[in-house]
Amino acid sequence: MKFRFALVVAASALLAFAGTASAQQPIVIKFSHVVAIDTPKGKGAEKFKELAEKRFPGKVKVEVYPNSTLYKDGEEMEALSLGSVQMLAPSLAKFGPLGVRDFEVFDLPYIFDSYAELHKVTGGAVGKNLFKKLESKGIVGLAYWDNGFKILSSNKPLKVPADVKGQKMRIQSSQVLAAQMKALGALPQTMAFSEVYQALQTGVVDGTENPPSNLYTQKMHEVQKHAIISDHGYLGYAVITNKKFWDGLPADVRAGLEAAMAEATVYANTIAKQENEQALDKVKASGKTQVYVPTKEERAAWKKALVPVHKEMEGRIGKDTIQAVYAETGFKPD
Ligand code: LMR
Repeated sequence: MKFRFALVVAASALLAFAGTASAQQPIVIKFSHVVAIDTPKGKGAEKFKELAEKRFPGKVKVEVYPNSTLYKDGEEMEALSLGSVQMLAPSLAKFGPLGVRDFEVFDLPYIFDSYAELHKVTGGAVGKNLFKKLESKGIVGLAYWDNGFKILSSNKPLKVPADVKGQKMRIQSSQVLAAQMKALGALPQTMAFSEVYQALQTGVVDGTENPPSNLYTQKMHEVQKHAIISDHGYLGYAVITNKKFWDGLPADVRAGLEAAMAEATVYANTIAKQENEQALDKVKASGKTQVYVPTKEERAAWKKALVPVHKEMEGRIGKDTIQAVYAETGFKPD
């Protein structure tokens, strides 16, 4: 009897110990992304890690994997749905293949003139509705993070739309971006971000488009002789998480992480403009890429060539979504 009692006591002690040990296991959030640490998104992810771990010392651990070191474009979304990672921040241009085509509204050329216009959309009803559409895919949208306005680059001088004609231009996986390049008479080539530098270096593609921060931190300026400050489109991100993972978190942890994300978002969106300005200065200072600023007339010519893409893509994005963005920004297609 005594022996049996001792066994029960020992077993309960063991169970209690196991309970404490598992209670001490931190919640691990793997946050995978494809750009360098030294970019608006890279810095935003690091800030989120810092804030989340400060709120929950020892309880939450955020592991950030930059530069496609864990997953690259085309792999990330599947990894999220399988639970191999818990957080991503793909560019808004990369949600089409997931079946949420409305996100490609952000890729329409010249639809935003400034960050302020863009924020009206991401911070308003359109931004909320787009996040709602992710839920049926098992995804929760946590925040919109800025990068910036894209410049076009190539090994040939680019001044007017005809200069891009016949060139192979790397794009992200967005049908709107494909239509945009076709409208210029260029040949769009969809490719993972991690492969762009080599493709430019070996001549697999002739040129590309990206905000200066991405161009500079991937050293694309070393393999591109020319760039034009076309500012023809916006590139930004949706920070997303796996719905099952997020809903399964203890309520207090989820609330704390939401607060950390809100703070990291303010930080990321505050530094984005300056990060891009500084990167552009560094590209210019390198002397490797000649950076051209178009005249007013040249800018008008790019706009004239590209704005018809809005109408052409209505069927894909949805007229209502496009009109809702126009209503926020005051954009007029004619
Ligand atoms: C690209 O593929 O060019 C961008 O989406 C990379 C990024 O995440 O900024």
